[in-house]
Amino acid sequence: MQIHIAGTGIWYPKETINNEEIVSSFNSYVDHFNNSNKDKIESGELEKLDYSSTEFIEKASGIKTRHVIDKKNILDINKMMPAVLHEDESKLSIHAEVGIKAAQVAMKNANVTSSDIDAVILGTSHAARNYPSVAIEIQNELGISGYAYDMLVGCSSTTFAINNAVSDISSGLADTVLVINPEISTPFVNYTKRDIHFIFGDGCVATVVSKNNTSNNSFRVIDRKLITKFSNNIRSDWSYLARAATDEKSYEDLLFYQNGNSVFKEVCPMVAEFINNQLKENNLDSTDIKKFWLHQANARMINLIVSKIIGTNDFDTSLAPLPIEKFGNLASAGSMFAFNLHNDLEPGEKGLICSFGAGYSVCSIIVEKI
Ligand SMILES: CC(C)(COP(=O)(O)OP(=O)(O)OC[C@H]1O[C@@H](n2cnc3c(N)ncnc32)[C@H](O)[C@@H]1OP(=O)(O)O)[C@@H](O)C(=O)NCCC(=O)NCCS
Repeated sequence: MQIHIAGTGIWYPKETINNEEIVSSFNSYVDHFNNSNKDKIESGELEKLDYSSTEFIEKASGIKTRHVIDKKNILDINKMMPAVLHEDESKLSIHAEVGIKAAQVAMKNANVTSSDIDAVILGTSHAARNYPSVAIEIQNELGISGYAYDMLVGCSSTTFAINNAVSDISSGLADTVLVINPEISTPFVNYTKRDIHFIFGDGCVATVVSKNNTSNNSFRVIDRKLITKFSNNIRSDWSYLARAATDEKSYEDLLFYQNGNSVFKEVCPMVAEFINNQLKENNLDSTDIKKFWLHQANARMINLIVSKIIGTNDFDTSLAPLPIEKFGNLASAGSMFAFNLHNDLEPGEKGLICSFGAGYSVCSIIVEKI
């Protein structure tokens, strides 16, 4: 049975923050912190904070700008987070709202309507709530029958969700599945932390996976390969348990944190070896892959992984697109953002979508333009 990625759609907020703006806000916060804690810093009770720098951010990550849901409050040193409202039954949830926007574009590009869709799978890094599933909320809004559910696999939530869609189609459960991946990450970023304040942006991608070749820009799924290996190097301990926890932790302690350098060192060789093995198992040479649509965590990581796969770091940047420059790290949506924006392959040409992130979790999908 052939299964296709028949169309994708992306959504992202209009507002952008460039590196100068994020650094200027952070450095003002540092001045304010150091001045108001002068005595404690002098007595050694508190550590002085250091400035961030645009040069570091661009060199270390490749990020130049990020699209965000609330620029003003993120940059305000008295807030340093976007302002959102509590969610309840009186209105559509933020994940459903952006998910529907991306889904409508994906459905149009895939040339399908709600009545063609049998299931909705929503994968994201940060759960909006425990229940009901946001996927079911979207299913209801779009008038889709069948089933819907949410799933969480950190920065591999998008590819793992596409993988589930392919499995459901090949097992006969569904013919066409709508995969939706909202990544509203900025509420989870601690903008007072120098090593992470510049990383994330907000966005959403949707993908129509179908047994049918419904569009003139369909990609056949050739192979899927997944692996997980436990690591504490990317973590968020935010949980419903926090309410009942009897030990002291601040909200900030429960937010996203990572040992970025360890992630870099451990994940790059792991992903390169994983993809090399997958190519071998499929009797493919790295030169058969015309595009690497990789997880957008760090431009240096992407370049290193691709150079380990193709055996040289002398390659055209179009081989491994870098939407991270404009969007920052979009958590699990990054690889499919890259696919959405750069999928101009000729019929018969192959490309590879690969996520890697918290877990650790890796999912690589080889596709062929038909
Ligand atoms: C986060 C990341 C960009 C940091 O880059 P890095 O090269 O590893 O940087 P390091 O953390 O080793 O820090 C290097 C130096 O820069 C400094 N530094 C950190 N943040 C800085 C900032 N904003 N401005 C200036 N200097 C900074 C550090 O203090 C360190 O200084 P030192 O050498 O004097 O100790 C990078 O590690 C990364 O992207 N890792 C992978 C992340 C990832 O995939 N996460 C998955 C989540 S989706």
